[in-house]
Formats: sequence, structure tokens, C-alpha cells
Amino acid sequence: MPGPDFTIRNASEDDIEGILDIEIDGAAAWTLELYREEIGRKDCIFLVAVSGSSIAGFAVAWVVLDETQLHNIAVKRNSRKTGIGSALMDSVSSESMLRGSKKIHLEVREKNTSALSFYMKKSFSRVGFRKNFYGDDNAILMEKIIE
Ligand SMILES: CC(C)(COP(=O)(O)OP(=O)(O)OC[C@H]1O[C@@H](n2cnc3c(N)ncnc32)[C@H](O)[C@@H]1OP(=O)(O)O)[C@@H](O)C(=O)NCCC(=O)NCCS
Repeated sequence: MPGPDFTIRNASEDDIEGILDIEIDGAAAWTLELYREEIGRKDCIFLVAVSGSSIAGFAVAWVVLDETQLHNIAVKRNSRKTGIGSALMDSVSSESMLRGSKKIHLEVREKNTSALSFYMKKSFSRVGFRKNFYGDDNAILMEKIIE
């Protein structure tokens, strides 16, 4: 089956409303101001997946020295399971490598089983656990070596 038609590019201020519209199950949603601050930050990788004229997904990560911290990745509910998250993650990985990063790390809610499966599929390994990190849920720490 052919995949959806989408492209991945750097986020701009005009994308933020579309980003906020995406339901972020299991992830802490940021405010418009927080997303706006990330645009153009040198140490930030902020990507959107665009399908037609709408934002179908996004990813935000920070590159600090030789490590990338993935803060958020999400795909519009009706566009999930079509490869968009995978393409966003691949773009975060390649952009991280270009910037000299050697690994990507992240925290995910233990109850967010779809995200956990997604990260496993994208070759992340479980490296830690933080009990009650989110108050109502534990955090699983994951990382992927990309060098
Ligand atoms: C996690 C998320 C970004 C994945 O995006 P996606 O576009 O649906 O992912 P893809 O279609 O690229 O899937 C890639 C692989 O991940 C796995 N995967 C994705 N969604 C899954 C699900 N709901 N259940 C089990 N495995 C899943 C599969 O192995 C899939 O490969 P396959 O299609 O060959 O089976 C998406 O589910 C989402 O936006 N979730 C809500 C936000 C969120 O929880 N973000 C993470 C915060 S830490």
C-alpha cells in the first residue's frame, strides 16, 4: 500500500497552531510560547511533517554537546501508523549526526505502550527507570547510539 504523501522540513512560527492541534497522548503538551521559543534556537532540532496544507506531525529535540534529548514527537491521530513518526525520527537522527551528536535519549511514560513499541522499533533500548516521574506514571529512559 502506498504511504501518505508528506514532506519533512524545519518548523516555522506559522506551523505552531497546527502543532498545538495535534493531540499528544501521554506526552506533556507545551504552550504556544514554549514552541515559539524553540524556533530558530541553534541547539534545537524542530521538524514538522506536512501533508497537503496541514501539519501531520512534529518532533522537537535539543542537541547538547554530543547528545540529543528528544523532547517530543507526535503524529496527528488519523495519520498514525502510516510511517510519519518513523520518518520524523529518522530525520532527527540524521540531523543529530550532522551536528556531531552520538546518541539520542528520551523519557516516556510507562503506560504509553504505543510510544514504547514505536521507540523499540526505531532501535531505542531501555536504559533506566524513574518511579513516579510523572506523578501518575513511571518514566522509562531510553537511548539509541547513532554514531
Ligand atoms: C508514537 C507515535 C509518534 C508514532 O508515530 P506513527 O507515525 O504512528 O509511527 P509509524 O507509523 O512510523 O510506526 C513505526 C513503527 O512503530 C511501531 N508503532 C507505531 N505505533 C504503534 C502502536 N500504536 N502500537 C504498537 N506499535 C506501534 C510499529 O512497529 C510501527 O511499525 P509498523 O507500522 O511496521 O508496524 C504516535 O503514535 C503518536 O503521535 N503518539 C502520541 C504522542 C506520543 O505519545 N509521543 C511520544 C511521547 S514520549
